[in-house]
Amino acid sequence: MVCINRRLRSDLASCAARNSGDLAEAIEDEVRRRGLAVRVERTVCMGRCDFGPTVRIAPGGAFHLGMTPADVPGFLDRLETDLDLKKEFNEFNNLPPPGS
Ligand code: FES
Repeated sequence: MVCINRRLRSDLASCAARNSGDLAEAIEDEVRRRGLAVRVERTVCMGRCDFGPTVRIAPGGAFHLGMTPADVPGFLDRLETDLDLKKEFNEFNNLPPPGS
């Protein structure tokens, strides 16, 4: 889960103000590129606003705070090892992208 919450008051911290949209996109791209069998979900506030962007492994996993897009490859390397993520291979992987 990646928080993309933006607060209306600019004096309050928020993940969106710390470029969590770019982080979410980097995670989504890298998960897709690696073919990992995980879902990346953009969410609202998870209560860690002062330390964001906030990423959490669900369900009930650790928070990962203050990541940048440059951190994504190493983050996913560790996740693949720690969670023993299986690559997603199915009949849909070889289909061309929609609209092509
Ligand atoms: S705005 Fe992201 S955790 Fe609160």
